[in-house]
Amino acid sequence: MEKETLLLPARDPERDRESIALAGRILREGGIVAIPTETVYGLAGNALDPAATGRIYAAKGRPSDNPLIVHIQGMEEWPPLVKEVPPEAKGLAERFWPGPLTIILEKSALVPETTSGGLDTVAVRMPSDPVARAVIREAGVPLAAPSANRSGSPSPTTWRHCRDDLMGRVDAILQAGDCGVGVESTVLSLCRGPDGSRRPRLLRPGAVTLEQLRQALGEVVVDRGVLEHLEEGEKAPSPGMKYKHYAPRAEVVLVKGSTEGYRRYLENCRQPGEHAMCFTQDLPLREPVLCYGGREDHAAQAERLFDLLRQLDRTGAKKVYIHAPAPDGVGLAVYNRLIRAAAFRVVEV
Ligand code: TXA
Ligand code: MG
Repeated sequence: MEKETLLLPARDPERDRESIALAGRILREGGIVAIPTETVYGLAGNALDPAATGRIYAAKGRPSDNPLIVHIQGMEEWPPLVKEVPPEAKGLAERFWPGPLTIILEKSALVPETTSGGLDTVAVRMPSDPVARAVIREAGVPLAAPSANRSGSPSPTTWRHCRDDLMGRVDAILQAGDCGVGVESTVLSLCRGPDGSRRPRLLRPGAVTLEQLRQALGEVVVDRGVLEHLEEGEKAPSPGMKYKHYAPRAEVVLVKGSTEGYRRYLENCRQPGEHAMCFTQDLPLREPVLCYGGREDHAAQAERLFDLLRQLDRTGAKKVYIHAPAPDGVGLAVYNRLIRAAAFRVVEV
């Protein structure tokens, strides 16, 4: 699928107005464009046009039953996409939008099946990144945008990551800044369950934390797929859960334990060519070693995580021992990505 991919400078929505206008036109005409958001780069297309979303699935190599998140830039764009906006959803949106929270509700007839992956629900989010917002406004339609990586590889947090994965497969890539959050949005379902009630269910942790959601909503159920491995054939409430994700080519081992425990474990097991990915408190450690932030600094860990996983690939690492963060606050999001990268291989030291 070789096609010409435009690289469009877009650091600033004011200064780079021409790029934004061109991206908007490409999107209106059914093309697909990699755009920045505050979480990760997204591969955008008109969410209401099945031909455009078909191109997104093809460019990513994404299974067609894995639904796409629809991105909007104004509150008024939400009600037409869903059957209803219940008060608890509205309250959450008022509190956390624009920002890294995706809310799932029953979809309206306006949303094509290709966008919802055949489900009768739709995931919607309003990004805060100024370039993303300018592009949605310019396109004049809601934009479906999964992470702009090839399916299976770590999500892109810089335009260069998008280029590495998607050059020749998409119409354009916006050359904007690096993503500040670094992990994908929190995904929360507010759909009605079998008993008709809307029990909030966390499907993917992100920078809007479980603690913040509980503070806003009271009880929030954490779906089993967030921290555990779903069995072959088990029904996943979020189709993305069942696919291999975020994985570098190296074998990842997630190591849980104290600084001393982690250091001791590595001394005894590390072979030549095996890497460590650790917290600043774990240093010094024998090379090769990558550091992804302070032990308690979950925001820094999230911001660097995917770039470091990609670096491991570039250096041809065979195996990497990653020190696991505590699964609270934004740490839960980091832990959730790492446990998938590790294919659920965890050692406790
Ligand atoms: O931060 C983000 O959310 C980024 C940026 C680009 O906005 N997007 C993103 O999209 O991460 P994607 O497609 O890589 O991940 C969306 C996740 C998938 O796991 C998908 O299965 C789930 O959300 N999802 C989407 N719609 C859903 C629905 N209707 N029901 C259940 N899960 C849904
Ligand atoms: Mg993704």
